[in-house]
Amino acid sequence: MTKALEFAAARGFEKSCQREDGALLHVLAARRGVSRVGEIGTGAGVGSAWIVSALPPTTPFFTAETDPDLATAVTAFYGDDPNVTVLQGSWRETLPPEAPFDLSIVDTNDAKDDVDATIRLLAPGGTAVLDDVWLDPVLPDARRDAWFGHPILTTIELWVAPSRRALVAVRR
Ligand SMILES: C[S@@+](CC[C@H](N)C(=O)[O-])C[C@H]1O[C@@H](n2cnc3c(N)ncnc32)[C@H](O)[C@@H]1O
Repeated sequence: MTKALEFAAARGFEKSCQREDGALLHVLAARRGVSRVGEIGTGAGVGSAWIVSALPPTTPFFTAETDPDLATAVTAFYGDDPNVTVLQGSWRETLPPEAPFDLSIVDTNDAKDDVDATIRLLAPGGTAVLDDVWLDPVLPDARRDAWFGHPILTTIELWVAPSRRALVAVRR
């Protein structure tokens, strides 16, 4: 976690998950039955650190990042840990071969807007998490509605902080 936070600060990367969102990822990753985890959008590795620190050491974790500098740096944080894989490239090509996941963190705008492609990465009963899912509190919100209205998802929104909401969706 410290490495990721320091790297984000040094690079001026401001899109890392906040503490409250990280705590949500951490508790969801710690559940029994989470045996394979994916993340769309590695960033500086802050969200990854919240997740990996909750997983048993033998649970595979895959995270996809298009920016080669970010992907290279986060790869180095985990050394030769065989259960953490940073995939350089778009999640659309890199994550499907590693799916299905029991837990999937959806942290790019294009993935948040493409519910069907995103949930194809989930095992039945698997959980998707979207933090900062929308910042404009005005409803209706098309992105939110797509997740809530999807026929094979059961979805809830959680206030993780007074000004921020996350969506948690389970694939039936
Ligand atoms: C919000 S940041 C991720 C933050 C990180 N998940 C965390 O919690 O700290 C989104 C990241 O997704 C990356 N990204 C954007 N489009 C992508 C794509 N199609 N595939 C993989 N990564 C992508 C961006 O370069 C950026 O680093």
